[in-house]
Amino acid sequence: MGNVLSLFQLLRSVAGILILYGVFKFAEIYYNQWTSPIRDLPGPKSPSWLWGNIWEISSDPPTIQEKWVEQYGLTIKYKGFFGMTRLFTTDPKAIGHILMNSQEYQKPEHLRYVWDQIVGSGLLVVEGEKRKQQRRVMNPAFGAAQIRELTEIFIDKSAELRDAWTREIAKQGEYGEVEVLGWLGDATLNIIGVAGFNHHFDNLGETPKPDDFYEAFLLVLEANKGLVLGFLRSMFPLFRLLPNTRRAEVRKAQATMARVGNQLLREIKARGVDPEQAAKKRRDVLSLLVQANMSKEIPESQRMSDEDVLAQLPTFIIAGHETTSIATTWALYALCRDQEIQKKLREELISVPTENPTMDDLNALPYLDSVIRETLRLFPPQVSALRIATRDDVLPLSKPFTDRRGRVQEGLSIRKGQILTIPILNLNRAKWIWGKDAVEFRPGRWASVPEAALAIPGTWGNMMSFLGGPRACVGYRFALVVMKALLFTLIRSFEFKLAVPVEDVAKDEMIMQRPVLKSDPKRGSQMPLLVKPVSQS
Ligand code: HEM
Ligand SMILES: *[C@@H]1O[C@H](CO)[C@@H](O)[C@H](O)[C@H]1NC(C)=O
Repeated sequence: MGNVLSLFQLLRSVAGILILYGVFKFAEIYYNQWTSPIRDLPGPKSPSWLWGNIWEISSDPPTIQEKWVEQYGLTIKYKGFFGMTRLFTTDPKAIGHILMNSQEYQKPEHLRYVWDQIVGSGLLVVEGEKRKQQRRVMNPAFGAAQIRELTEIFIDKSAELRDAWTREIAKQGEYGEVEVLGWLGDATLNIIGVAGFNHHFDNLGETPKPDDFYEAFLLVLEANKGLVLGFLRSMFPLFRLLPNTRRAEVRKAQATMARVGNQLLREIKARGVDPEQAAKKRRDVLSLLVQANMSKEIPESQRMSDEDVLAQLPTFIIAGHETTSIATTWALYALCRDQEIQKKLREELISVPTENPTMDDLNALPYLDSVIRETLRLFPPQVSALRIATRDDVLPLSKPFTDRRGRVQEGLSIRKGQILTIPILNLNRAKWIWGKDAVEFRPGRWASVPEAALAIPGTWGNMMSFLGGPRACVGYRFALVVMKALLFTLIRSFEFKLAVPVEDVAKDEMIMQRPVLKSDPKRGSQMPLLVKPVSQS
């Protein structure tokens, strides 16, 4: 009896502490709100004290936000849950400032915590000096010369995918229905495995094999997914003290990934010592990282530990596999919607005399390049990014604004702790940059890039899809050549049509822009297409 009572008392005091902590947190947040310099920004009225503008936005974020921008200007505020003020800017100068000063504008801790639980301290997670150090070692491994060497792998894997689809279609008749998103996901996973760390995920053959590394990876991902507690843990660090029921399982899975990773690392290092082995060129990113780590140009203190290098393997998978397959899927979708564009692209690709083009062959195809640019502009897999200001600052603006009190402001004061959304999709399709047809898929527009687009602070292609500044996507060259290799092989071999009415296709725009079907939401993201071998004449 006494035990039960003291347990009860313990629970009561724990609950008491949690409530106090909650009250304190909310008081802190609201105090910051009421005194924040962004509260005088213009912006839409909030229809609800509870939902703020979230409800309106959730139906079609980019369109609603674009309406606000037209009405109130490039830099506005709106309301989130419980009346919390959110800052929204599509001013390229402000965004450039945030991205270029990546040491001051970091990823919010709650995001880094979530990624850390899943992949450990790889590039997606680390900040400060450690990040600089990791990027210094990794940038060269993703350079153009290195990707040129990997192109053969990309083409081989694209051909495996083509053969798999040929088998699928042969079972069905003239046109076969293929769920292309899932298949492309398998293909890009396979590509990242081999090109990233010389690991073969055998998932495209006639009898796909289960893979220890990938199963462990999926388990960790799954165990960290959308649970209420997971959310609370990420937002309120006190909850991280509560025991995690799946911890043992997750530990075991992480140990499996570490075992496979260490084995790969040992093999690479063993070859480094054996000159005969080392002469046989190894080109995967992991081998390059080990080499770069030994290079005399990198001082001993700047080298990466084995643990840090191994954390990059699941990082590559998380950052590179689904992003690339989603983008390629949207490319096929866009080509289905405009058969003329599909035909024109096929003509260009068929004119290439070889099935095994090099990176330079692929990059010399202008229409393929325009189709990829237009796809990444309109369908950036990641639609926005988040940053937090680590000190008070003034954001420079390309257009001054008039605040609610009628004062003209040249810059925007923000406070330490301010969360900022980088609107990738909004800038990619802003009408004031791209013109009236900004939301239309028109590869031809790349023949002459509008003057205003030159101001966009993106790393690649006058767009934000790979972000910009020192923290931009390290794998963008890799991703572009993979997409080109896949489209080259697939569009030469097949004709594509949508398998469902176009109105049925929707975008799930939470963080990743995945395709879903309105008629079949349960199945999650998917893109069924009708696929037919190109008729040989
Ligand atoms: C179409 C495909 C891809 C797109 C659209 C894309 C986009 C992005 C974006 C927007 C970021 C910044 C994220 C943020 O800070 O919020 C990023 C970061 C990153 N990406 Fe990619 N990515 C793609 C493919 C890849 C590939 C293939 C790899 C590697 C094999 C890769 C590796 C990374 C890594 C490691 C980071 C973190 C960089 C850092 O924080 O320093 N990505 N990517
Ligand atoms: C990088 O170099 C350091 C110092 O020489 C070494 O301890 C470490 O194992 C190396 N890491 C990798 C992944 O090669």
